[in-house]
Amino acid sequence: MRLSIRIKQIVGVTAIVGLAVVALSALYTNRLANVVLRESLSRGEMLANTILHRAGGIVTGDVDPYLALREDQGLRSILESSIYGDNISFAAIVDTSGTVIVHNNRAQVGRTLAERADLEAVIDDTPLDKLRVIFAGDGQTLEVRETLKRGSEDFGSIRIGVSTLLMRSQLRDLLNDALFTGAAALAVAVFVAGVLSQLLLRPIHVLRSGLTRLGQGEFGVTLEALASAPAPAIGDPDRVLQVTSNLVENALRLTPRGGVVRITAAPATLAVEDTGPGLRREDLPRAFERFYLYSRYSSDRPVGTGLGLSIVKELTQGMGGSVAVETTTDKGTRFTVRLPGAVSQDFTDGSSAPNRELTHTADNTSQK
Ligand SMILES: Nc1ncnc2c1ncn2[C@@H]1O[C@H](COP(=O)(O)OP(=O)(O)OP(=O)(O)O)[C@@H](O)[C@H]1O
Ligand SMILES: [Mg+2]
Repeated sequence: MRLSIRIKQIVGVTAIVGLAVVALSALYTNRLANVVLRESLSRGEMLANTILHRAGGIVTGDVDPYLALREDQGLRSILESSIYGDNISFAAIVDTSGTVIVHNNRAQVGRTLAERADLEAVIDDTPLDKLRVIFAGDGQTLEVRETLKRGSEDFGSIRIGVSTLLMRSQLRDLLNDALFTGAAALAVAVFVAGVLSQLLLRPIHVLRSGLTRLGQGEFGVTLEALASAPAPAIGDPDRVLQVTSNLVENALRLTPRGGVVRITAAPATLAVEDTGPGLRREDLPRAFERFYLYSRYSSDRPVGTGLGLSIVKELTQGMGGSVAVETTTDKGTRFTVRLPGAVSQDFTDGSSAPNRELTHTADNTSQK
């Protein structure tokens, strides 16, 4: 399958923007993962320190430290409220052999608490490993630990569980906005690429449609230019030339062999008419809308980029004039440009004879 230059250009720009979006999203995801991990570590450490502060005072007393820890109401409320903190899944104090002394879930007391990976160590991992820890499988629990001492001896440790599943959902919420922005950037890129290619490829289309007609041997359109008297008008010469060339280019492109394209100049008026295929009447009111006729006829007529007539209208109106179109379906089309008028002798050499020199009737008129 051969792709048109326009499609290739759109695909190219989309691919470049797409790659940039993917690279930036990867960078952004990595940054966010770091933020979520560090935030979880800080929360875990803060909770561990609060428990350490409370438990440290309890275990140094004369009473049985195990019993005192279990019966302290303050400690219990800290443990029970701990799981309401972001990403925290448990909080416990264990003895040196790993047996639970107190836990936010009372059912765990007396059991051995299996050791989990240290959250602080994960923070030093490579970006890919960090993402793997957060997004792998069904998730896992990481730990933040603090040693609990009784006097100068190790009594046990405070262990805070941090769930990667909870981190994952926190990260997903944060990433949704970024994904939306990325998708919007891609959509804008596709749109801009489409519009740019339409504008940039215009000259290529014009050349190509002309060459196609030449290749098909389509000669023999007569180009006439008539002015029976001086035809002054007020307007910018470059714009008038652009308007005329757009209309003439369309007419020459669409008029079949043996037809005539006629440019007629009268005071403040310029008309370009042809014996081409004409336009459907219902299309006339929207004839100067960008891409309108182009999309209506592109399947059965050689087209350019669909901008010419809208440019004609803009330029004409910019000079204070107007443009109109009439047609007889299958017989031809006539575009009439009206510009502000001017006094004839100010704008001509005073000659009033018809300017026949402008007319060319030849087999190879300026076909495009
Ligand atoms: N004189 C005409 N006779 C018949 N159809 C015409 C005539 N002028 C324009 N059209 C139709 O209107 C469409 C739009 O014309 P327009 O000049 O806006 O764009 P284009 O010629 O396709 O491309 P561009 O001028 O941007 O290179 C044309 O593609 C053609 O189908
Ligand atoms: Mg055109």
